[in-house]
Amino acid sequence: MEIKRIAVLGAGLMGHGICQVAAQNGGYEVNLRDIEQRFLDNGMAMIKRSLQKFQSKGKLAEGQAAEILNRIHPMLDLKETVSDADLIVEAVPENVELKTATFREVDRFAPTHAIIASNTSSISITELGSATNRPEKVCGMHFFNPPQLMKLVEVVKGTKSSDETIQTVLDVAHKIGKETVLVKKDCPGFIVNRILVPALNEAAALYWEGIADRDDIDKAIKLGLNWPMGPLMLTDYIGADTVLAITDVLMKGIDPKFHPSPGLKQMVKARLLGRKTGQGYYDWTQK
Ligand code: CAA
Repeated sequence: MEIKRIAVLGAGLMGHGICQVAAQNGGYEVNLRDIEQRFLDNGMAMIKRSLQKFQSKGKLAEGQAAEILNRIHPMLDLKETVSDADLIVEAVPENVELKTATFREVDRFAPTHAIIASNTSSISITELGSATNRPEKVCGMHFFNPPQLMKLVEVVKGTKSSDETIQTVLDVAHKIGKETVLVKKDCPGFIVNRILVPALNEAAALYWEGIADRDDIDKAIKLGLNWPMGPLMLTDYIGADTVLAITDVLMKGIDPKFHPSPGLKQMVKARLLGRKTGQGYYDWTQK
């Protein structure tokens, strides 16, 4: 199936980046939707900042940023956003009730041929598919933060996702310049988060137990494993609330051994969520 127009639901940390790469690398027309004007404005400001960075590094020619922005259509109305889309990528906050309700609503308004993909990092694709009358046209399309720079997309097959749906989404991901991996079974955390999030949870435990200082925990993993940033900084980057939410899903969906550490829970209770609240393990107000 040929995809011409993509709708991205949610203009937050992930949604704005997904929208940008679809318009920038894939040349797609993209409808970008959020529920309030201020969220849309914020998303568009992040896209403009990112395009400026690419331009200042010579990765975008003069005038290209304007062309990309012209392909992006910010919207508040869900029906308007999805009614002419061939592929809908849902990137609303990581909450199962919200995502299910969104899928139900999108299914009502989207054309019958349209594929609905979720950027969820941990919620069941099969369950989201069951909220629609087209589970064969539902799959996971999981980007990594920041979507503008991270090469990978995990494409996740729900129990009823059709081979055609999976192939179409793989093709779109390749067209927007990404490498893909196929997650053949819909299992909590897919591949990356099943491995990453327990590591971030353990870093929170080490810090909470006072076994090492923040900088030494991060230095150990940066230099010992060659990660680009340490696990505590990465937790701040992703958001401690998101890390906790994924830990809960792994614990409930796979094994109690994935239970969240008291240290991680404490960060969330204190709203020390990292970049998004300005304070986490690090101070982000100056960055
Ligand atoms: N758009 C355009 N350019 C950007 C950008 C953006 N959004 N963000 C950063 N850049 C540019 C910077 O301007 C910088 O350019 P210069 O080299 O010319 O200065 C360059 O990218 C590198 O950025 P930084 O210097 O700020 O920092 P860095 O070298 O550490 O790279 C990073 C940034 C790519 C994010 C790197 O730190 C990294 O790979 N970190 C790990 C990220 C990661 O693990 N992400 C996955 C999170 S898990 C997830 O997303 C899944 C989930 O479900 C939770």
